[in-house]
Amino acid sequence: MVIMCSSPFLRPLHQVEFPKCPCLSTKSQFRPLLLRFKTTIRASSAVVAESDLSTQQNQAIEVDFFACPICYEPLIRKGPSGLNLSSIYRSGFKCKRCNKSYSSKDRYLDLTITAALREYTEVQPSRTELFRSPLVSFLYERGWRQNFRQSGFPGPDEEFKMAQEYFEPAIGGLVVDVSCGSGLFSRKFAKSRAYSGVVALDFSENMLRQCYDFIKKDDTLSTANIALVRADVSRLPFSSGSVDAVHAGAALHCWPSPSNAVAEITRILRNGGIFVGTTFLRYTSSTPWIVRPFRERTGYGYLTEEEIQDLCTSCGLTNYSSKIQQSFIMFTAQKP
Ligand SMILES: C[S@@+](CC[C@H](N)C(=O)[O-])C[C@H]1O[C@@H](n2cnc3c(N)ncnc32)[C@H](O)[C@@H]1O
Repeated sequence: MVIMCSSPFLRPLHQVEFPKCPCLSTKSQFRPLLLRFKTTIRASSAVVAESDLSTQQNQAIEVDFFACPICYEPLIRKGPSGLNLSSIYRSGFKCKRCNKSYSSKDRYLDLTITAALREYTEVQPSRTELFRSPLVSFLYERGWRQNFRQSGFPGPDEEFKMAQEYFEPAIGGLVVDVSCGSGLFSRKFAKSRAYSGVVALDFSENMLRQCYDFIKKDDTLSTANIALVRADVSRLPFSSGSVDAVHAGAALHCWPSPSNAVAEITRILRNGGIFVGTTFLRYTSSTPWIVRPFRERTGYGYLTEEEIQDLCTSCGLTNYSSKIQQSFIMFTAQKP
């Protein structure tokens, strides 16, 4: 029996048409996941979420590129499609498996496991909590970040150029700027127009608010393919193998568990996908032995170059290489 139906919600998934984003090339890795998962979606899930999410005309329901941070199942999205601030703000997201809904808070999409919890609050280690403060978030691009130069960081423009070179194989794809802070690099990635989409992701609500303000003040950016997402690096809200490049500037030393984070980054990268990170080294070969013990105990988790390489390699990343200047390291590795 053939049922004729004009509502996209009542059509089998493989017949649902998705609005096309003009910026996405057909070669791009960044397409609605439905297209990529088409053959793996079971017939039993073919009619999507029409009873769970209240239906409205002219709004698509599609399997999204964002995934549930609990079970990693692609989220079902109801609302305008596309990876930009306005369409994401106007969309609702739901995990069919966990029956959990996610939506935008202020101007970022909250995809943490604790999103919308009423009673439970979780305190993270101090190096994560520090950046949740409104004052630190405000000061970050207004002096705080500039101080990194004293430790050998070349500065945002040069760091961006270096990262771009490593990201060559990811041109046209989806970049996730993990621990983006106030979006210093996310904005540069989006402005470059070299990628089909940029996700600016951080755990700090206030950093994301700053990022939003910076984007809004920049006419060339407000309509770009950029999304603001709150998430924990140890629980990234993307399906396995769905991301072309991950950037993590000055972040590894702030993460509660660098090993969980690098494992997560490896999981979400597609085969051939690139990870580029920068951080402060605990010490380098030129650091006097006498000084080294004093660099062990700080509030941050500074690693050595050998530890960073070990971490990447043990998570299965290959082609590791790095550039070092004083305490600054930019490292890159690739998912085979
Ligand atoms: C020093 S800032 C780096 C900002 C920016 N990427 C840069 O290059 O300047 C470190 C960032 O890591 C974020 N962060 C700390 N713990 C995190 C976690 N568990 N998950 C995601 N981001 C985290 C902080 O909120 C902060 O914005």
